[in-house]
Amino acid sequence: MKITVAGAGYVGLVTSACLAELGHLVTCIDIQKEKIDMLQSGRSPIYEPGLESMLEKNLSSGQLHFTMNPHHAYSDAEIIFIAVGTPEKHDGSVDLKYIHVVSNLIAYYIENDVIVCTKSTVPVGTNELIQAIIDSRKPPNLQVEVVANPEFLREGSAVLDFFHGDRIVIGTDHHKVASILEQLYLPLKIPILKTDIRSAEMIKYASNAFLATKISFINEMSNFCEKVGANIEEVTFGLGYDKRIGHDFLKAGIGFGGSCFPKDTKALLHLGGHINHPFDLLEAVINVNNRQQSLPVLKAKETIGSLKNKKVALLGLAFKPNTDDVRNAASLTIVKELLEEGAVVTAYDPLAIPNARRILGNTIEYADDIRAALRDAHLAIIATEWEQIKYVPLDVYQNHMRDPIVIDGRNCYPLHEIQKYPITYLSIGRPDVNNARQKKGWE
Ligand code: UDX
Ligand code: UDX
Repeated sequence: MKITVAGAGYVGLVTSACLAELGHLVTCIDIQKEKIDMLQSGRSPIYEPGLESMLEKNLSSGQLHFTMNPHHAYSDAEIIFIAVGTPEKHDGSVDLKYIHVVSNLIAYYIENDVIVCTKSTVPVGTNELIQAIIDSRKPPNLQVEVVANPEFLREGSAVLDFFHGDRIVIGTDHHKVASILEQLYLPLKIPILKTDIRSAEMIKYASNAFLATKISFINEMSNFCEKVGANIEEVTFGLGYDKRIGHDFLKAGIGFGGSCFPKDTKALLHLGGHINHPFDLLEAVINVNNRQQSLPVLKAKETIGSLKNKKVALLGLAFKPNTDDVRNAASLTIVKELLEEGAVVTAYDPLAIPNARRILGNTIEYADDIRAALRDAHLAIIATEWEQIKYVPLDVYQNHMRDPIVIDGRNCYPLHEIQKYPITYLSIGRPDVNNARQKKGWE
């Protein structure tokens, strides 16, 4: 089919490359010239495992095109996917300005009947709004059907998730349109769920809110474990054996970041305010997450006192491993708090330094390798569990730092290993190692 994807971000690019891989003729449109230039020359502006090779292959076979020209993109498309950003406003609500822009362009440029699928995460009712915008401006002889088709791709494994996702949600009341989309997705052999539009929109928010709740729940439990002398890893292992709970998505740490959970939980809370439905549980999930992101600096102050002029090695900037994305990353909170305390920060990340530098500028130093970051540091904070970080031999901390103190926000190291080294080690929800100042609330 002739498919157009609006937005060459994390979601739009992966969707474009994967649909081309399935044999469709895909045009991806974006407003950023620099991005389109890069993509046309076969380079990906983002890091996503498996993406660049798929882009190259489909670009050279002619299955995939990139453009900034809305006439080329929309005039003869059979299906248009909307994957532009839906960022957060100051009050936590969703900014739909890009959705408005794209809906208007679609209405203006289409020359055929078309199905418009919304991949972007949008509040309930938005697809009806898109339908209304397009209907009010399109040529009267053309038929446009807007479908809620949320994405569930995780950064760092988005290509894998496209081909092996848990489900595909198609939200429309139009049976013929639903069956066209079903045919499109059939080769993936992923369960397809057909719903009404509003339920499809809510499935996305409910999924992200539930996953965020799981993380805040386990983080709250991990803080409890610290106080009672238990080990959160043992607890989650035992918890996960219950089939009703499961082992997945229960890793304690310094909270969730990224472009989805922080934004979507706030958006749902905000929407609750509008419909007179205070979402107390979600408010607690957000508060726990904010507190969790502040834990490393709190622990640092408790352990070494003043951080003024202390050299801190921050290991990991990305909000999770295998991505260069730093949106809402815990690392950004950590940097802000360290700088407020007067610390001197050197950060290492295998991929995310360019994106972090755009936000943090020269307020911190950046190291090309982990040893350079650790050299003469008073303290190391692990913020992302990259393989390049979690497999660093422990004697590297011992040999490069002054008097090694490591605050591991992602529980990268087994406690029995750490115990072999003269390293003061604090992690999340597990007993401290070699910490003379450890507070034992349970004694
Ligand atoms: C996606 C979804 O769209 C968002 O709703 C969801 O919550 C998170 O995932 P993502 O792909 O991460 O967003 O966004 P981003 O990487 O910011 O990419 C959006 C792209 O759309 C950018 O390249 C931007 O230039 C482009 N864009 C934006 C347009 O092409 N046209 C516009 O009018 C606005
Ligand atoms: C998420 C959803 O998983 C995906 O379905 C949706 O479409 C987009 O939002 P993403 O944000 O890319 O994906 O990554 P995810 O793997 O869900 O991790 C989000 C955050 O939660 C990361 O900061 C990660 O470190 C944290 N996390 C995840 C935990 O702290 N513990 C866990 O057990 C899992």
